[in-house]
Amino acid sequence: MACSQGAFRLAGIRKSNCQDGQIRSNIVAVMSAPSRKILREAPSIGPQGSTSVVSCFDRDSPREEITAGLTAPHAFVSPKYLYDRLGSRLFEAITELPEYYPTRTERGILATHARAISRLAGSGVTLIDLGAGNCEKARSLFGVLRPAQYVAVDIATECLQDALRGLRRAFPEVEILSLAIDFSAGLALPDTVRREKRLYFYPGSSIGNFSPGAALALLSDIRGQCGVGGGLLIGVDLVKSTEILELAYDDPLGVTAAFNLNLLSHLNALIGSDFDIRDWQHRAQFNDELSRIEMHLEAKRDLTVTWVGGRRHFRCGERIHTENSYKYEQEAFHGLLKQAGFNNVRIWTDDLHWFAVCLASV
Ligand SMILES: C[S@@+](CC[C@H](N)C(=O)[O-])C[C@H]1O[C@@H](n2cnc3c(N)ncnc32)[C@H](O)[C@@H]1O
Repeated sequence: MACSQGAFRLAGIRKSNCQDGQIRSNIVAVMSAPSRKILREAPSIGPQGSTSVVSCFDRDSPREEITAGLTAPHAFVSPKYLYDRLGSRLFEAITELPEYYPTRTERGILATHARAISRLAGSGVTLIDLGAGNCEKARSLFGVLRPAQYVAVDIATECLQDALRGLRRAFPEVEILSLAIDFSAGLALPDTVRREKRLYFYPGSSIGNFSPGAALALLSDIRGQCGVGGGLLIGVDLVKSTEILELAYDDPLGVTAAFNLNLLSHLNALIGSDFDIRDWQHRAQFNDELSRIEMHLEAKRDLTVTWVGGRRHFRCGERIHTENSYKYEQEAFHGLLKQAGFNNVRIWTDDLHWFAVCLASV
């Protein structure tokens, strides 16, 4: 579950090499017309070795971007705002649900084919984990891939830092870089990321959060940055019955509902809005024509939401579109990778053909 359009750009980079285990959070403001960008070093982590942490975000963009979405005729909010600290924890809980098959299915495929993946990708790679989350899937490949450098990229850094502490303890020989960037508007990596043997890792079918056109743009961007000997290891969710799909995004326990509703709390924190979660309900449905699961939040009564610089009246039953998750036919996704410029594509699936893991190289 992730990503869509956004206005963030990497404005510049400062790096922090932390050797003392202290939590530091230095803030450097970079003023650049027309918009003011803030470049921040996220809290560094220890205890040993050098861990570079780079963060970049645009202070003005969330408000403008969220306001534009909330005031659109069909209100929408980018799914990247699902992930504050609680949102990331709720997503982890979702992955434990029996109905949420993607995580355990992808994990199974990675475990079964880890040796083949490492044979094809080689060892000593620069492993670049896009939307790393709790880093668990990348971690499961450390043993076979033996990365020279691991680069965890995520918009939500708090949970990432927790995960990286554990990784550093377990793999002190691996250089670990944490990048707090939003790649929905383009993927710009700092020079501290090794150019050699780049293996981009994009699990969780997060590519499904992008429309096919935007997915092609992102895949082409990744292809352009792979360099000689580079590649992309990507997980994608496949088309299956509507019943299975809708249960995965609307579980009886209500964890996915909580995950979706929590976005409103995150918006309240980000833009000072006065959403009352009790006025909203979670909706998830498969749009057959567009081959995507859609998540929405539906107003339970007529209400008005206000925030600094904006307001919106919602009628009872009116919705805010919060996430798309496109489901692909295996051949169609293969075609998308080819279109993005990847020549060699190897695909593994589970026995039920519910999920696919693709290794694409240049
Ligand atoms: C569905 S979770 C996947 C986590 C993990 N990779 C997995 O497969 O289980 C999506 C992750 O991508 C991150 N994310 C979402 N949108 C993003 C964006 N635009 N830029 C960077 N990270 C993003 C979220 O914070 C979250 O950790």
